[in-house]
Amino acid sequence: MKVTYYGHSCFQVEVAGKRLLFDPFITANPLAAKIDIMTLKPDYILLSHGHADHVADVEAIARHSDAVLIGCFEVVEWFRSQGIENGHGMNIGGSYTFDFGKVTMTVAVHSSSMPDGSYGGLAGGFLIQTVEGSFYYSGDTALTDDMKLIVAVEELTFAVLCIGGNFTMGAEEAFQAAQWLGCREIIGVHYDTFPPIKIDHAAARNIFEQGGSALRLMAIGESYQYLA
Ligand code: NI
Ligand code: MN
Repeated sequence: MKVTYYGHSCFQVEVAGKRLLFDPFITANPLAAKIDIMTLKPDYILLSHGHADHVADVEAIARHSDAVLIGCFEVVEWFRSQGIENGHGMNIGGSYTFDFGKVTMTVAVHSSSMPDGSYGGLAGGFLIQTVEGSFYYSGDTALTDDMKLIVAVEELTFAVLCIGGNFTMGAEEAFQAAQWLGCREIIGVHYDTFPPIKIDHAAARNIFEQGGSALRLMAIGESYQYLA
């Protein structure tokens, strides 16, 4: 599995011959100015919830790539009403097997509304299980006991966790989540983009290192290949 980071909570995972893009928020993120969304050609766009900092570039990317949207029913239906027809609505606790692997929508403790204020259903995260490995993306969330219920058929290769605090878990809560998940390879997201979520990178890394884990803070545009 190859992971590429596009800033904030946007990342792409290439797995089983497919490109999975999560929570695209690029053109409105000054930190990601060097990323040209027209170069992104995902097969699927996975949306954790409806907030603008997770869906701002969905329409543009979906139109030029014809990617299938995966997300909470209300989020997918809202995009359908905007003319993005290619979607697969899910809801918390449900699983569906796509051509790249099995997706389970997991609990997130967070709000969700669409950019125009419409109801966005429940915020969620994703557990993705494939023949090349499994990973978990928390979405925006508080630390919650529900994370103890996230058990993949095999060990998680990596987990993508929000670490910026204020709106979501900070690094300490994310470290606890990683412990519960039994995962030592963590990619941090949802930090530095806005003033309230600017973090001290060294301090965040230190929390994980002291616990025997690794916190990867990727540069925007950087890729990392996980070997199965
Ligand atoms: Ni949010
Ligand atoms: Mn957010």
